[in-house]
Amino acid sequence: MTTAIAETYRRFAREEARGRSPLYEALSESIADDPDMLAHLADLPPAKQQPNLLLAAVRHVTGVPGGWADFRRNALAHWGEIRTVIMERSTQTNEAGRCAALLPVLALLPQPLALLEVGTSAGLCLLPDRYAYDYGVHVLRPVDMTADTPVFPCRADEATPVPKSLPRVVWRAGLDIRPLDVKDADQMAWLETLVWPEQSDRLARLRAAVQVARADPPSIVQGDLTRDLPLLVKEAPRDATLVVFHTAVLAYVSDQAQRDAFAAQALSLCDYWISNEEPRVFPSIAAKIDRELRPPLFMLAVNGQPVAAAHPHGATLDWIAEPPPANGRRKSTM
Ligand SMILES: C[S@@+](CC[C@H](N)C(=O)[O-])C[C@H]1O[C@@H](n2cnc3c(N)ncnc32)[C@H](O)[C@@H]1O
Repeated sequence: MTTAIAETYRRFAREEARGRSPLYEALSESIADDPDMLAHLADLPPAKQQPNLLLAAVRHVTGVPGGWADFRRNALAHWGEIRTVIMERSTQTNEAGRCAALLPVLALLPQPLALLEVGTSAGLCLLPDRYAYDYGVHVLRPVDMTADTPVFPCRADEATPVPKSLPRVVWRAGLDIRPLDVKDADQMAWLETLVWPEQSDRLARLRAAVQVARADPPSIVQGDLTRDLPLLVKEAPRDATLVVFHTAVLAYVSDQAQRDAFAAQALSLCDYWISNEEPRVFPSIAAKIDRELRPPLFMLAVNGQPVAAAHPHGATLDWIAEPPPANGRRKSTM
């Protein structure tokens, strides 16, 4: 058991943290070599052994460590409290910057849009029309832009159809197994702890996005995406293009058959199903791309067709192909 956990931490250090968080990379490599830490992790349910959750829980209880010695001392001394945080919370990182990856697709669809996000966390990705975006070639701003509106930078390649205007959203709703409330200070403190230590720009943008959401929070329903999608779809207006989307969510559904069943249901219920996930989440869609998307890149897909390779936080976008037409559920066309 501890060998597999050590391997998970080494993979996290080398494939996810390297180049993005020197502290998390060093800590994860050291945890993988530490029998005491591995024994504590082995005592947790498998879903709770993940690096992001442990690293955030230790920071939540004892603050940002100076290095490995500090981390190890704090983690072992406060393990009871840290274990409670691990068991009570989960990695619900809400990265509004992912809207920069979704936007070119959303802008191509017949307007106006009804947005339904599953695995919405605090709902920050449900507000793509309320943020600003810097695509290099031009900057897109909402009409009510203020000095506090977050600006999400995205390096899009030349093939990407960078939108000239923001999408028009007339309805939005989220579904989450454990919804977070942007007005709850403790829940937002946990979201902040989930941002990696050196990523101060990202933290500032998270705080700004939470402020935007607090002004007019999206409606979020508690529920399981494998079961409760049809109920929420019924509430969507019929005269808008219904988009069901998710980003960084379906990996939490461990059974591939359940993921595929969700995909089939989403396709049957909406006009456009947008999936922004690690390629391994939907191998049959990833197989349609003629090149490998290296971790940590996400695959952006529309109605089961790959459309772009996206940085996991929306910082880059490499276009693959135009989205396919609508499902025909509502007679909308591209
Ligand atoms: C990593 S967060 C991503 C949040 C948001 N989509 C984003 O990209 O910023 C994953 C979210 O999926 C939710 N989730 C996981 N499994 C779920 C399920 N079966 N049904 C509904 N939500 C789920 C979690 O509670 C969490 O809020």
